[in-house]
Amino acid sequence: MTLKIQNICCIGAGYVGGPTMAVIAKNCPNIKVTVVDNNKERIDAWNSSDLSKLPIYEPGLDEIVKRCRGRNLSFSTQINENIASADMVFISVNTPTKTKGLGAGKASDLKWVEACARQVAINAKKHTIVVEKSTLPVRTAEVIKTILEDAQLSSATPYKNSTFEVLSNPEFLSEGSAIQDLEEPDRVLIGGDNEEAIEALSQIYKQWVPSKKILKTNIWSSELAKLTANAFLAQRISSINAIGALCEATGADVREVSRAIGSDSRIGSKFLDSGPGFGGSCFKKDILNLVYLSRYFGLPEVADFWEGVVFLNTWHQHRISELIVKKLFGTLSGKKIVVLGFAFKANTNDTRESAAIQICKDLLQEGALLFIHDPKVDSKQIEVDLERPQMNKSIKAGDLPSQSGEWKTISNLYDGLPNSDAILILTEWLEYSNINWEKVAKTMRRPAWVFDARSIINPSQVLQSGLKLWRVGDGSQVH
Ligand code: NAD
Ligand code: UGA
Repeated sequence: MTLKIQNICCIGAGYVGGPTMAVIAKNCPNIKVTVVDNNKERIDAWNSSDLSKLPIYEPGLDEIVKRCRGRNLSFSTQINENIASADMVFISVNTPTKTKGLGAGKASDLKWVEACARQVAINAKKHTIVVEKSTLPVRTAEVIKTILEDAQLSSATPYKNSTFEVLSNPEFLSEGSAIQDLEEPDRVLIGGDNEEAIEALSQIYKQWVPSKKILKTNIWSSELAKLTANAFLAQRISSINAIGALCEATGADVREVSRAIGSDSRIGSKFLDSGPGFGGSCFKKDILNLVYLSRYFGLPEVADFWEGVVFLNTWHQHRISELIVKKLFGTLSGKKIVVLGFAFKANTNDTRESAAIQICKDLLQEGALLFIHDPKVDSKQIEVDLERPQMNKSIKAGDLPSQSGEWKTISNLYDGLPNSDAILILTEWLEYSNINWEKVAKTMRRPAWVFDARSIINPSQVLQSGLKLWRVGDGSQVH
């Protein structure tokens, strides 16, 4: 017999919880979906009548929220009540790297997941399927099960007849294409050992995902597959960035190398774009978690192998900052650099672990004056990321840089250009690939540089306009 799910509660209204539940609500109109969070400001933003104020930006998300909110999708801070009425509770809270104590700097901090498990244990009134949606270290389901089951023995637990099943259902969406990834996933992974619970969850996905794409595994394989997928993807980026550095040294071009190796069907063409180094909230934390687990289970060689992926990424980001300093005559003091893009990739307002943070910090350290443009990231977020306030001074066209080691945001990228020494492209927003280089070149201070860390500009147009160019992984430019 399949359990019929009528009420879903998702704890965590973030980048995963919000879009995932919106897509479930859209495709399962008979299920009531409530996304809860203890961050009131975030829930208020999800409930905002102005859809441009939703807390996260994802193409297509606003339309789904508009269609389903108030129908079978709601956002609330009433966590206990919604757990109590749910047949299925998704845990979709943050699992960042621990900053202190055992495993600091590598292991995932599971305090938010543990808090959710305890809250479910106390508030669930009936049989409840608990679904791990957060990315978790392998064997976390054991911890959740123990918390849920032991709570039944405690006198402080009001509802003694509650029963639980725990499933792992990791999320593979990418930011910027979350809705498309959720609507047409490559696969949905469900790990568990209870057939009835697995079937109940797969019935939800079957409303829009073909059955053959729903993979069922044991719970530990499912947890580990998520970490492994991110590790493999990040490894490809470090691999191609390493080869890009070699291209720059040897006269080869990383785009050509990528094309040549990517057409081998065993390698595949995706995830071979050299850039400023991977960012995003998950790659680094998930690999470090894998490193921690490998050491914990007595496999230091495995740990070292994966740690190299993160090491290369950090090295690559500093390499870019250093080459900018070198090309600008060894000093950035008082030099004006227009930074295009701060988000960790295009089509998102997320800056977590963005390469822009480290590179901008390096440039500020060298005394640069940064004019930062990003179509979706607001200046308050940049202030938090750069850990210093933006300069409190209005700029006018023709201003000569007078301060050093400072930054400010610009809403029009052309505003920062007068007398600038360099343009640095860090995020591949479409609008940066259509820049009028003739116009730009006229306003910059010579010699002026374009540093394209995303390889999105047309090199001949830049060079024809008299600007100097560095493109990531491009050894064919002779300077
Ligand atoms: P997020 O920080 O955007 O959202 C997490 C939310 O959980 C926050 O709003 C926070 O207030 C809330 N929260 C934390 N503890 C809570 C509690 N006890 N009660 C109620 N609310 C609580 O995080 P995210 O990016 O959505 O990531 C969530 C998980 O999904 C992480 O494990 C991450 O690794 C994984 N993941 C993320 C992505 C992605 O693209 N961001 C993709 C796949 C998987
Ligand atoms: C990544 C994975 O792709 C998702 O499958 C996973 O669910 C998610 O992490 C997660 O667990 O959080 P995301 O971080 O949103 O998704 O974005 P990606 O498209 O993977 O990009 C990550 C970083 O790699 C970005 O900084 C991007 O610019 C960079 N990248 C990506 C490259 O430098 N080159 C590429 O070829 C691809």
